Amino acid sequence: MALLAGPDQGPIRIMSVFGTRPEAVKMAPVVSALRQAGPDISSLVVVTAQHREMLDQVLRHFAIRSDYDLDIMRPRQTLTQITVRALRGLEAVLERQRPHLVLVHGDTSTTFAASLAAFFHRVPVGHVEAGLRTGERYAPFPEEMNRRLTAVLAQLNFAPTPRAAANLAREGVDPAVVFVTGNTAIDALYQTYSPAYRFVTPGLEGLGAGGRRLVLAEAHRRENWGRRMEDICRALRRLVDAFPEVDLLFSVHRNPQVDSVVRRELGGHPRVSLLAPLPYPEWANLVGRAHFVVSDSGGVQEEAPSLGVPVLLLRDVTERPEAIEAGTVRIVGTDASRVFEACAGLLRDPDQHRAMATAVNPYGDGRAAERIVAAIRYAFGLGPRPPDFAPPPPGAARPTKTEGFRGRGQN
Ligand code: UD1
Repeated sequence: MALLAGPDQGPIRIMSVFGTRPEAVKMAPVVSALRQAGPDISSLVVVTAQHREMLDQVLRHFAIRSDYDLDIMRPRQTLTQITVRALRGLEAVLERQRPHLVLVHGDTSTTFAASLAAFFHRVPVGHVEAGLRTGERYAPFPEEMNRRLTAVLAQLNFAPTPRAAANLAREGVDPAVVFVTGNTAIDALYQTYSPAYRFVTPGLEGLGAGGRRLVLAEAHRRENWGRRMEDICRALRRLVDAFPEVDLLFSVHRNPQVDSVVRRELGGHPRVSLLAPLPYPEWANLVGRAHFVVSDSGGVQEEAPSLGVPVLLLRDVTERPEAIEAGTVRIVGTDASRVFEACAGLLRDPDQHRAMATAVNPYGDGRAAERIVAAIRYAFGLGPRPPDFAPPPPGAARPTKTEGFRGRGQN
């Protein structure tokens, strides 16, 4: 008995909805796998464009053309405004297209709004990257709640890791509708990272080479706006002043709440580059060359461990504990002296750095999108249930960056 009802005739219509840069990166492998799935599946892409420039960049890189673009981004819009605009825009598209399944990703306002819009139209929802939890209602804000609300609305759950699947089971989600697939972030990374990559952006080639140390930074989360963002920037300024071998590259989010503080606190330093968010291939390859990354982002906690690059996490809790346990990611919060000391430790003490620079792949093996499409086929009664992704045992960690990376297409 199939989990979901398909069409009487013709292909299953699957509508992928996303709106921000990280969703686009992680849904790109799924969209591409759906496109290649054969004549019984037809794929439609709807972007809310909750982000504009940052989204378009990713769509270009992965050669994705949207079928509908709701263009909802407005400067400094509130969470309510994003949600309302997305709901309204999606209503017309859902009425017109009547898909058999809506796919959403992760934890953004677009994710939640699209799941709710689909529910209003009695269209089943498939949730990619389901089951991550911090257990803290306001951290990350509003992402933790977006994830939980989406889990209630979803009928198929693609959990990246066994732990994420266990979180869903604890909340009462039937294991029959949970598939452990690995994270599509690793698929995207494997398609994009190469030790032989040549940078396009002027000034990036050669960073971190010849005895210099590249420290890569980014911070944008709502709970870090204001005082916490200032503290982060002050710690980083102190760091570049204290370590002449360090080049700091800060990828500055386009949100004015972030941009204005970072430019005020870090602008004008000869060894600090403040760049607008780089195209995804430039970013992914820079992560691979960094001495370490200082970040509050979600995705980098998955990317950097695959490349054996330490991450100091500018948050108090994480929904991605797997790499913390493996030792590649460490939570440092945002207190200026704690951030400075954690960074300084990795620069002063090679043993400390080596202990963290361990390549681990608890998040995926580059085949998550393939498993998601197989699970969708199964749900519609078109194929067998795919086997779950099983992460390598902890002892499989590798000590160096380049050895640690074994991407498909990296032969
Ligand atoms: C959103 C997601 C967050 C994700 C992040 C990745 C929500 C609530 N938050 O946060 O989970 O980690 O994306 O970046 O969904 N802006 C531009 N151009 C762009 C993108 C953003 O100018 O291409 C500016 C706009 O002023 C926009 C503001 O940034 O209003 C904030 O964007 P928004 O989508 O509200 O939140 P993010 O902080 O980007």
